[in-house]
Amino acid sequence: MNASVAGMLHRQQDITESVQALLGQMTLAEKIGQMSQVEASHGYAPEYLGDRLRAGLIGSVINVVDVDILNELQRIAVDESRLGIPLLIGRDVIHGFKTVLPIPLGQAATWNPALVEEGARVAALEAAKSGVNWTFAPMIDISRDARWGRIAESYGECVLLTSELGAATIRGFQGDDLAANGSIAACAKHFAGYGAVESGRDYATTNIADTKLRNVYFRPFNAAVDAGVATLMTSFSDLNGIPATGNRYILTDVLRGEWGFEGFVVSDWDSVRQLQIHGLTENDRESAYEASTAGVDMEMAGDAYSNHLLGLVEEGRVSEESIDDSVASILRVKFELDLFDNPYTDPESLPEFANEHALQVAQEAALQSVVLLKNDHGALPLAADELSSVAVIGPLADARYEQLGTWIFDGDEELSITPLQAMRTLLGDAVELRYVRAMENSRSRVNDQFDTAVNAAHESDAVLLFLGEESILSGEAHSRADIGLPGDQVELVRRVRETGKPVIAVILAGRPLTLSDIVDEVDAILYAWHPGTMGGPAITDLVFGKASPSGKLPATFPRVVGQIPIYYSQKNGGKPPSKDTVVHIDDIDTFAPQTSLGMSAFHLDTCFTPLFPFGHGLSYTWFGYENIRVSANEISIGDEIVVSVELCNHGDIEADEVVQLYTRDLVGSLTRPVKELKGFQRVRMAPRETRTISFKLHTDELAFYGRDGKRTVEPGMFHVWIGGSSDAEQRTEFRITEHR
Ligand code: NOJ
Repeated sequence: MNASVAGMLHRQQDITESVQALLGQMTLAEKIGQMSQVEASHGYAPEYLGDRLRAGLIGSVINVVDVDILNELQRIAVDESRLGIPLLIGRDVIHGFKTVLPIPLGQAATWNPALVEEGARVAALEAAKSGVNWTFAPMIDISRDARWGRIAESYGECVLLTSELGAATIRGFQGDDLAANGSIAACAKHFAGYGAVESGRDYATTNIADTKLRNVYFRPFNAAVDAGVATLMTSFSDLNGIPATGNRYILTDVLRGEWGFEGFVVSDWDSVRQLQIHGLTENDRESAYEASTAGVDMEMAGDAYSNHLLGLVEEGRVSEESIDDSVASILRVKFELDLFDNPYTDPESLPEFANEHALQVAQEAALQSVVLLKNDHGALPLAADELSSVAVIGPLADARYEQLGTWIFDGDEELSITPLQAMRTLLGDAVELRYVRAMENSRSRVNDQFDTAVNAAHESDAVLLFLGEESILSGEAHSRADIGLPGDQVELVRRVRETGKPVIAVILAGRPLTLSDIVDEVDAILYAWHPGTMGGPAITDLVFGKASPSGKLPATFPRVVGQIPIYYSQKNGGKPPSKDTVVHIDDIDTFAPQTSLGMSAFHLDTCFTPLFPFGHGLSYTWFGYENIRVSANEISIGDEIVVSVELCNHGDIEADEVVQLYTRDLVGSLTRPVKELKGFQRVRMAPRETRTISFKLHTDELAFYGRDGKRTVEPGMFHVWIGGSSDAEQRTEFRITEHR
């Protein structure tokens, strides 16, 4: 055992003893106090929360970010309550604090865990400087429905990508040591299944088979627990008839029983009392009973626990042991954060807000998040020295607030550099920029500025159209049924297109939009998500070729909303569509008799493929993949195989490529997805460089939860692909045999 592991075990042992010693001194009321989190943003909190703090009836506060107020709240809790237990200070630090990084979905498009970790570190340091010691992130709900506004907060549709980026975010927030100045506790949310809400309507119901829960929705949470996440949050949604906040199966049997989670579970905002609205309970008392016996340790912003838990224990319906378990896991996190010895925040001890490093990380994250969806005949990059003027058109070219995206409570709009500003800085007087906002906002149907926009396009050498949706159109409770470009944007594109000038669309959005209406009307599309504070410089560098795009889609782009859910790891079904089996609506003879010929799983009125597949993203250079091979044609369970490919940068610029490895388990006791991402690497390639890229794959990584709920790898044939998207063409195969 090395010294640091021994030291850690020793500290854990000390913490366990301290927790037990403290618990032994607590009254039941004080214990229940620890299980209550209160909203503290209305008025001067030390005044109106003071008495409850002194009585030891509050474990945590949420939504205050004034360091002086927070220090005062801590002082009352520590100096004026009987046992002096410090507070957890919670805040939604979702993708940055003052410095805003791209929305999580954009960060996912970087496929760069190290960068995502660094971004979370930047956010943690800024939040900690304000006195926050607990964030409600990462959100690791698998999201396969772009109508759902909260897809913006997620890492997209893929189990592996979400798991890796979730774990990276947790490492960034929590650091190596939660006790260190600048580390904050993370919260993996929302457990579980929230991303599967029916038709993408926020807060709606979910029905998810256990095998799917285990193979898809649970997996990122299991990875978060393995990464040492301090806390988990329940989902607002109903899961198979039992709302997540009252669901003992997920919160206790799986989370604690199977995964050994030792942190604590917080409800979502008032979701304990909402058990009644769901129709699971009759009143708040029963809601408190259901939630606490299911395994919710702390109630967020509600009063069911503070009003009813004591009575429920006295009645003998809730055991004091279960209360002790909850309180112990909350106190443990407080000790791990070192709050008993260091409850106060000294802002001077932490780096400045929005310092050079923070801004540089935000810019790099934005740069790597942008996905080049199409680029006909090298329309991009624009050569600044060959242009005399560019028309910059659209509601999102110069919108400081909108580029920050959803969930940016503390984001400083003043720090934002917009694309227009950044282009002016880069180009100076060398290239004339003709800026026409054209629409008040993305939803506008007033098009009286369109003529001005068209004139600007006429007079310029190229057109940059900044389109998309402003931040209010995604996020919590902001789902959309139609995910096309809102307002009159499509009309604007058509009008500008008529000028015959090269048209480049830069799209800022909180979700994959359906782009079928414009995809053939523009020469190139850069998909920039909501890129955050430094979005402008990042986009400008890409547009003018200072860097090459390297983002890859973390979610499939449907052609039309009716294709949803469409995701790369679908099942084959018994009648999979292929080019030979589809019939288009225009080709159908109205009077044709019923026939089963050619029937397969597709829609008559659109292609069966998406507009852009998961993992897609072009570059200014061209990457070729050749010669995929495996280190063995057959391996036994428990062994590793190496899969490699030759990657060639055929162009003459240096650029990053995200190399992706997918597998398919051809025959399983449960049917298996047609593809599953099993590895990815972001590699920087010199001009004309060829390199062998290898992935090690252990048979454990090919395991899945079967009919018996157990995770096993089954012998049989596997296909394996390596390429630059989920449409990778380089394929080979190998067989897994029983143990030797
Ligand atoms: C409700 C949201 O669902 C959750 O994600 C968030 O952390 C809490 N509110 C706290 O603001």
